[in-house]
Amino acid sequence: MSISLIILAAGMGTRMNSDLPKVLHKIAGAPLVVHAMKSGQALDPVKTVVVAGHGAELVEKAVKAYDPDAEVVLQEEQLGTAHAVAQARAALDGVEGDAIVLYGDTPFIRPETIEAMIEARKENAVVVLGFEAADPGRYGRLITKGDALEAIVEFKDASDEERAITLCNSGVIAADATVLFNLIDAVGNENASGEYYLTDIVGIARSRGLRAAVVRCDEAETLGVNTRAQLAQAEALFQTIARNAAMEDGVTLYEPETVYFAHDTVIGRDTIIEPNVVFGPEVTIESSATIRAFSHLEGCHVSRGATVGPFARLRPGAELAEDVHIGNFVEIKNAIVDEGAKVNHLTYIGDAAIGAGTNIGAGTITCNYDGVFKHKTTIGKNVFIGSNTMLVAPVTVGNNAMTATGTIVTSDVPDGALSIGRVKQTNKDGLAVRMFEKLKQMKQNKQSGA
Ligand code: UD1
Ligand code: CA
Repeated sequence: MSISLIILAAGMGTRMNSDLPKVLHKIAGAPLVVHAMKSGQALDPVKTVVVAGHGAELVEKAVKAYDPDAEVVLQEEQLGTAHAVAQARAALDGVEGDAIVLYGDTPFIRPETIEAMIEARKENAVVVLGFEAADPGRYGRLITKGDALEAIVEFKDASDEERAITLCNSGVIAADATVLFNLIDAVGNENASGEYYLTDIVGIARSRGLRAAVVRCDEAETLGVNTRAQLAQAEALFQTIARNAAMEDGVTLYEPETVYFAHDTVIGRDTIIEPNVVFGPEVTIESSATIRAFSHLEGCHVSRGATVGPFARLRPGAELAEDVHIGNFVEIKNAIVDEGAKVNHLTYIGDAAIGAGTNIGAGTITCNYDGVFKHKTTIGKNVFIGSNTMLVAPVTVGNNAMTATGTIVTSDVPDGALSIGRVKQTNKDGLAVRMFEKLKQMKQNKQSGA
């Protein structure tokens, strides 16, 4: 059966106290709305519709960046969750199968949970995701009779007896798309909030003799973000889940609570991550690599057996081949470092290609930027770049070449050549001693006021 996603993301999120629409606040480097989309993506939806309102243009940009096929529809006025879903009707015209309603501010719904809802749909017209709330607060309450769901009552409209119910509505609902829109047509707004409640569709379905049911999940899965404090909680929860998942996948984390993952970090088996490592988006690391303490990685790929850090920074476009060594205080950006090459100390490599087996000495800099354009540095195989070499790009160093310490390389170095470009050294006999005595004498004169 085909699945469509309707993601509600029109709310302003007043309590975030932000210029940014709530669903664009990030956890693990991805906007909340993208996390909601990812929850549903595992079901291979035929169509994803995001209902946006406040900051719709920005929301659309973020949504399309993650999934260019997703459609963003506008809900100009936020008249309630049923009204929000109704805005997706045209986008889903002619689309058959189930529609799953998710909230853009609720990032932790697991794909397995949605699958359980789709399974329950076989016997029921409407399936609602519920949870036992530790503190039911203002959540909608689920009115059940045995296994059947009879109605959802919003807190504002609930009697004391109904408010005593602890089984609450997460907001996630599954129904056949056509049935869903038919039910929504019957929803009115005569209630305590004057809003069109999506939750009313359960009572309406029952009055039409259709069955409804609850699928239950842990409360943690339904965590929604309304405040900066909840955003921080969500980040912490994401990190806990990601750390545990990495360790289950065979990644060693010596001090898991100091390692920060992005939403899309991929790490292979038997890789070791030392403490205080931060992963930005789009990092993939193969197996048996070592990421040493205090390193920061984003948009990069690290191959099998490579070592990075401590205190290394891999920026977007850094591609490390197998057994590469990147050492302390080294920054690599948009550069391919080929098999077994070593860049061990205090170095900047940007917009470059470094051949296999090459050794880059301490303090080497690819001078890639002239203030306007970026230029490329190409270094061949088995090259030895002496310490403190400045490679003024665009420039090429051939295979098996060498640069002398302190050389400023401004023109290409042929294969096998030694490039040396520095001021010739001269030694003045005895001058150091004479100078030193003179300076000491000056100091003494100063102190005695002479
Ligand atoms: C809703 C449910 C409640 C449930 C709770 C779980 C209804 C009527 N109530 O209440 O049963 O326990 O979620 O968190 O559905 N939105 C729009 N357009 C609108 C209104 C809302 O896009 O016109 C979006 C919001 O941005 C938000 C989501 O829908 O992401 C839920 O809306 P919200 O106003 O937070 O609903 P609650 O009152 O919390
Ligand atoms: Ca809410």
